[in-house]
Amino acid sequence: MFTVLAIVVLACGSNEESPSQKAKRAMKEKKAQVDNGKGLGEIKNVTLNDPLNQDMVQKGMAIYEMKCAACHKLKGSRVVGPSWAGLTSQRKPEWIMNMITNVEVMLDKDPIAQKLLEECLTRMPNQNVSIGDARDILEFMYQNDIDNAK
Ligand code: HEC
Repeated sequence: MFTVLAIVVLACGSNEESPSQKAKRAMKEKKAQVDNGKGLGEIKNVTLNDPLNQDMVQKGMAIYEMKCAACHKLKGSRVVGPSWAGLTSQRKPEWIMNMITNVEVMLDKDPIAQKLLEECLTRMPNQNVSIGDARDILEFMYQNDIDNAK
């Protein structure tokens, strides 16, 4: 992303975007990300594993138990936050990872996240989950949905 920007700027140095053009373009990009159901944040594209990577599933499960289990069940109904059952078929993987790593912005600006907040009436706290850890949690969520379907 940054290299591409740098090249564009170098390639047309005299033709640089004004700050307002830049802001407009950034807004357009964000809107596109929301409209295609990917949420807001750094995660633009996730490549899924097939079959699932069991090391990642195990790591994801450990993080779930430590940081998420107090508010999210793996099946059944909501506790504080929604149950994770069926999550991977309801949302795009990018949306899920952005929700985990960029929760404040998602709750303020993403329409799906805002609807959840209306239902749950609690703001999910930022858990300082790294992108790598969020990816492991995502792998675990896919495994959970496979297990739920059995
Ligand atoms: C203190 C309670 C709490 C904890 C801890 C928590 N969450 Fe949440 N989570 C929520 C609530 C509440 C929502 C619904 C949105 C809102 O109201 O903020 C939510 C929503 C979500 C969603 C969207 C669910 C859906 O149905 O689309 C995901 C994904 C999620 N949380 C992941 C995580 C992960 C991963 C962790 C652990 C690293 C975690 N949460 C820890 C309370 C929590």
